[in-house]
Amino acid sequence: MPEFLVDLKRTHDCGALRATDAGQRVVLFGWVAARRDHGGCVFIDLRDRGGTTQVVFEPQTSADAHQKAGELRREYCIAVAGTVAERGGHKNPNMATGEVEVKADTLTIFSTAETPPFELSDDIKADESIRLKHRYLDLRRPALQRNFIARSQIYQTTRRYLADNRFLEIETPFMVKYTPGGARNFLVPSRLNPGQFYALAESPQIFKQLFMVAGMDRYFQIVRCFRDEDLRLDRQPEFTQIDLEMSFVTEADVQNVVEGLMAALWKDVLGLEIPRPFPRLTYADATGKYGSDKPDLRFELPLVDLTDLVGRHDGGGVGLLQAALKTPGGVVKGWRLPAAQAKSLSRADLDKLEEFAKGFGARGLARARVGEGGAWAQSPMKTMSDELRRGINEAAGLAEGDLLFLQFGARKLVNAVLGGLRLHLATKLDLIPKNVWKFCWITDFPLFESNEEGKLVAAHHPFTSPNPDDLERLETDPASVRARAYDLVLNGSEIAGGSIRIHRSDVQARVFRALGLSDEEAQLKFGFLLEAFKYGPPPHGGIAAGVDRLSMLLCGADSLRDVIAFPKTQKGTDLMTDAPGPVTRRQLDELHIALKE
Ligand code: AMO
Repeated sequence: MPEFLVDLKRTHDCGALRATDAGQRVVLFGWVAARRDHGGCVFIDLRDRGGTTQVVFEPQTSADAHQKAGELRREYCIAVAGTVAERGGHKNPNMATGEVEVKADTLTIFSTAETPPFELSDDIKADESIRLKHRYLDLRRPALQRNFIARSQIYQTTRRYLADNRFLEIETPFMVKYTPGGARNFLVPSRLNPGQFYALAESPQIFKQLFMVAGMDRYFQIVRCFRDEDLRLDRQPEFTQIDLEMSFVTEADVQNVVEGLMAALWKDVLGLEIPRPFPRLTYADATGKYGSDKPDLRFELPLVDLTDLVGRHDGGGVGLLQAALKTPGGVVKGWRLPAAQAKSLSRADLDKLEEFAKGFGARGLARARVGEGGAWAQSPMKTMSDELRRGINEAAGLAEGDLLFLQFGARKLVNAVLGGLRLHLATKLDLIPKNVWKFCWITDFPLFESNEEGKLVAAHHPFTSPNPDDLERLETDPASVRARAYDLVLNGSEIAGGSIRIHRSDVQARVFRALGLSDEEAQLKFGFLLEAFKYGPPPHGGIAAGVDRLSMLLCGADSLRDVIAFPKTQKGTDLMTDAPGPVTRRQLDELHIALKE
């Protein structure tokens, strides 16, 4: 008797057979996806990574195999040998292999399976927690397998493209020295050095800069990064970057390499040509027009800045507007929803939007429905002068039936509310076209931002070069200094971020001082980098792209968890292995750690 695996080797995967294969003898391995008994025959759908094939066991083909097929249940792992036959009148056009079936004469059951805790189909309804607990079963689903096939292609294309462009793949340590600032780090206690800790690297940033000092010229790495942040749908505590750094470059050189990489990825994974160069928007323009530094450009509907107009009319007699203009840096902005879409929003819907705005910390959401002759209805701003109302109608291009949303006060909050509203309503009203790829570079970010305590912190990281045109204001007006930093945004998601770095120690020292770091503190924290920069550092810059976000977008997935094999939950736990978990007292003693009660 010929034996599977030894004598009977797999001839095809379960997605390969077509009508042209009819008459061939084949061997397939896989899992039982479904089983049906019809007119004395047993039909199964056999599934593997390649797809699904119908296999039929008829008593007249092999009484033995037919009898054994009676034992088959869902998710049994089996081998079959048989002959490919055309299905005649029973073709299934929804299946790649739907023209044929395999008439099996030999069957081996490699292993049986208990009934799975959820149905392994693509229109899955099971709760995510049960799927994460049995992730290896969830991963058998064709939809998830397709995601990992695409993700694997992303790695292959990236390596080929970057190697073709003279990048060297070099690894950097995961266990590094803790350097404050940036993301919160995971800590690893050192058994050999009591009381001392490594940090898990949040990115290879400093090491890749040291590669440039070391003359490596062009570096890349597909690297895991670790950040102990609060998690969202587009954030995981460990995630993967395509990280790169280049010597002797400007912004445009780095951006060109990344555009080429994106073009290669879209071609290899989706078979699409994407137009280049990608558009560029300054941070000021992006936040001004779309209220966001990661604007979704698949639709327009921009915000309108009304600050000057409202100022010229001294608030048009509206006390709240007058007060907003008096606050330092206060702005007034509007957002127009055209009549065609506005008509589907009821008064109750608008009241709900007020709550949406409050979720951002706003006090409310002023709005008006434009009536005949440009009059405003459903508006709380009844006292507004006719001149200002007419001026706003004109500036925002308002016509009868349109809705106007107004927000005023601190620029950051106004942009967050109206930018958020633009996205929220576009999604709700289905205004975002599908299968459209809108890349754009956001440039000229501010070098600094204030943290919750009002302290100046690096907006990107402290090694990002200031714009030389703004350098003279580094001490006098640091908030106005632009960085040589750039983000790549795709369909409203930040998929990459990078910058040209500081390579002059005098400029680095000034930036550290602007960040409130004394020379001693800077020495303590970044001494090794400053030391290295004494030895002829080249001008350099780089970028890192988030592979998980890229995969999510390329695969059309809704969550990072659908493109990460073993993802963590919102609480950072792994439901399958039950990590994190407690350790024994003895382990803690060895690590010189005592737990608080
Ligand atoms: P940055 O912090 O902007 O830059 O990260 C680069 C890209 O990584 C992705 N990303 C994440 N993806 C999933 N989960 C997370 N928690 C997460 N955090 C970031 C994003 C982001 O655009 N060293 C610099 C790069 C440089 O300057 O060269 C850095 O790490 O897609």
